[in-house]
Amino acid sequence: MTDQKQCPFQAPKPKIYRGETGLNLLGKGAKRDLFSIFNEKSYRLKMSRQPMLFRDIFLINNPRNFRHLLADMPERVPKSELLRQALEPLVGDGIFLSNGSVWERRRAMIEPAFRALTPTATFEHINGAVDDMLSRLDHHVGGRQIDLEAELSHVTADAIFRAIFSEKLESQVAMDLFSSMQNYQHSLPLLSFKSIFGLPKWLPGGVSRDGKRYAGRIREVLKQLIESRKASGEKRNDLLQKLFEARDSQGNGFTDQELVDEIAVLFLAGHETTASVLCWAIYLTHQDPQAHELILQEIETQLGTDPIDHKRLRSLETSRDLFAEALRLYPPVPFFTRELSEPTTMRDWLMKKGSMIVVSPWLIHRHKQFWKNPDSFIAKRFSRDQKEPVDKRAYLPFGVGPRVCPGAAFALLEGPLILASLFQKFEFEIETDPDLRPVCRLTTRPSHPIYIKITGERQPQSQTPATDNT
Ligand code: HEM
Repeated sequence: MTDQKQCPFQAPKPKIYRGETGLNLLGKGAKRDLFSIFNEKSYRLKMSRQPMLFRDIFLINNPRNFRHLLADMPERVPKSELLRQALEPLVGDGIFLSNGSVWERRRAMIEPAFRALTPTATFEHINGAVDDMLSRLDHHVGGRQIDLEAELSHVTADAIFRAIFSEKLESQVAMDLFSSMQNYQHSLPLLSFKSIFGLPKWLPGGVSRDGKRYAGRIREVLKQLIESRKASGEKRNDLLQKLFEARDSQGNGFTDQELVDEIAVLFLAGHETTASVLCWAIYLTHQDPQAHELILQEIETQLGTDPIDHKRLRSLETSRDLFAEALRLYPPVPFFTRELSEPTTMRDWLMKKGSMIVVSPWLIHRHKQFWKNPDSFIAKRFSRDQKEPVDKRAYLPFGVGPRVCPGAAFALLEGPLILASLFQKFEFEIETDPDLRPVCRLTTRPSHPIYIKITGERQPQSQTPATDNT
């Protein structure tokens, strides 16, 4: 087995900006890849200030400081215009974007809906999508290579679609929704300079006309799906049903428009995030000899060729650890951007009202002070038997404070399940460009396609029955 201490696996990383100070916001690379705005120093600083034309940007890396802002005084750091401009045409005032009392009411209605969907029901929805993915891939055994990211977007979109509507993502309507969502994301600008400079909203920029058209199409499809379920009067064990039943403190439910906002949020937030991190998790687990050996060992001892049921999934610690490490290196939501609503002092800096606050899981997860070998993929970093446990205060893939991701449990069930299922079922090869690196679009994505070629079904090493140690 590879000795991780001598030979940690170097995971792809972006080109580093050579400048000594500041962020390279206006450099050529910034438009193509937001990660290239950082220099070496950015990965060591606790906090920094970048003066811009009309406002300052504060980058806060220190766990005590960002936790203080996001968890202890969230009302002071509402979500920023930057995000609103990119997503409003699609999600309106849905919980991902809204602030203040609108957000409070909606969040208080959505959270119980998530809790009301039992883990078993969630597992069934996700597992149905995973089974279909494995059948699709079966047709490719010995055949041509396929784009891994596209396949993962499909399976994760299918999983969240089933969790919302109890239906497969296969009808014309569902596929229309899926492709419009993909087109919408490709239409989004990488960086909104208007927001960064704090320029007025009416200046041209933001989502293109095509982007708005795709967003309109998505909302129309969702509206029809919601209306037809309402008209059927059918009761199903899914998120839509729980959202129909949700009530605020005044006893009011969601209006039709609010329902479309929230379902659009769940569909968007609920698949691209998991798909992008899974793409990295599969790539890294395949390429790193130690990780590859560990996952196959786990499959041998815990599963054999048995299907993964809910109980067995809980025993797959290695798959969970590998997914957690991929989430550290490639957090799907790499930046949280907020706008300060009141002047605030932090680390002797006076941050004026209107300043942009950036908390970046991307930087924090690779920070030299909080992580050993921060750029390496270390299969056992999150393992329970690790002598030096990781500092969880510097680990925030799902956010911090009251706006923490309500879908985290869903993603933590789905990610390891898909990872383990793929390695359990198939032998495969991976091909990609030697220049592969992460780039920041809406989520952290691979710069070049990662192709997977299924060479055969995996043969179990031994016939020993799988142990059930749950
Ligand atoms: C690996 C997968 C995922 C990651 C890494 C992730 C990450 C995040 C993060 C970091 C936030 C907070 C952003 C901020 O504070 O600015 C967030 C919010 C959110 N996520 Fe996720 N997410 C994932 C999967 C999901 C899934 C599967 C769902 C739905 C089923 C979901 C639904 C949401 C919603 C609705 C919000 C908005 C919460 C609010 O503002 O109150 N996410 N997510």
